[in-house]
Amino acid sequence: MINLMKSSPDHSPVITEDELSDEEVLTELKLLKEKLQHEVIILGHHYQQDDIISFADMTGDSLGLAQKVSQINKPYIVFCGVHFMAETADMLTSANQQVILPDLNAGCSMADMANRADIERCWHYLTEVTKQKIVPITYVNCAADLKAFVGKHGGSICTSSNAKKVITWGLSQGEKLLFFPDQHLGRNSCYELGISLDDMVVYDPKKLFGGLTPKEVEKAKVILWYGYCSVHKGFTKEQVDLVKKNNPETKVIVHPECTFEVVQASDFNGSTSYIINTIEKAPSGTSWAIGTEINLINRLAKAHPDKHIISLSPFQCLCTTMYRVRPRWLLHSMRCIENGKPINVIQVTDEIKKDALKAINTMLEISKE
Ligand code: 13P
Ligand code: SF4
Repeated sequence: MINLMKSSPDHSPVITEDELSDEEVLTELKLLKEKLQHEVIILGHHYQQDDIISFADMTGDSLGLAQKVSQINKPYIVFCGVHFMAETADMLTSANQQVILPDLNAGCSMADMANRADIERCWHYLTEVTKQKIVPITYVNCAADLKAFVGKHGGSICTSSNAKKVITWGLSQGEKLLFFPDQHLGRNSCYELGISLDDMVVYDPKKLFGGLTPKEVEKAKVILWYGYCSVHKGFTKEQVDLVKKNNPETKVIVHPECTFEVVQASDFNGSTSYIINTIEKAPSGTSWAIGTEINLINRLAKAHPDKHIISLSPFQCLCTTMYRVRPRWLLHSMRCIENGKPINVIQVTDEIKKDALKAINTMLEISKE
């Protein structure tokens, strides 16, 4: 039996989480979650591991979690996901609530592919070489100061589940879009909306002027930032072809962060929630190859033993940053809350929040329609 009173009179833990066995961590976590149920809510993104998901009060994709978080009234929100998600949650909650990320190293490699200085440089160049109105749209997978940039320039955030709606809105506000940081979500969504590949160009921040001539900028309808998800990049068209060759009945469903070739060769594409809903609704006995993060695929395979579910890739497509959030760190966060000294609190400055919220709220409004 685990003793919940493993703390000194000043409430600092006597036995640190490092000294507990995995089983002890889970047992104490269960007790502590129960004890703090009126103060703490635990959110889990679909890519979290099963042990973390088992403690989550709410799960969801990026949009779902952002929509849910603003309705929470508990003082502590422990966000089992990655940094940009916790930042968004902080902006959508009130000043007397605290958002906690159990491991501060849980970032997103795609979000790190764009920074404010590079985006400002890009914007300066684009607005210099064309007089047409450019509307900036950023995928939610980016730092808060980039969301602020977008808010300041009249644009919107999007997630994988509302990208097409937001892009349609963006094109009603101006003649061109600057879409960052994920070129694939941008390209896949624009193409599905009928925008031809010839009307899209890629701005590479590592190249002089992004590698684009003024003429190319002028001609383009959509300027895509050179960013990508290193996890979803692992899926290839050859894998889709192989699955189809081995079993033509198998349906392939992928996340729109996969490349254009992969999405085009697949049967369906959509956000993590879309993937979950599609599999849930699929008839018994159907076969599925899924192109997204491995923890979600494994959970779906376990939850639907009546369906044949495999990963599209023979290699582990694991989001190593999502993976950093472990029950041990969740326990540490919970213990610190219990002791009145919360750690890893994510706080976006008021200055950034002011503009970033404009862009987030624009997205939430568009998503309602
Ligand atoms: P979703 O919004 O589809 O959950 O995607 C988040 C993400 O980071 C996918 O890599
Ligand atoms: Fe970022 Fe890719 Fe991980 Fe999603 S799966 S959090 S885009 S690195």
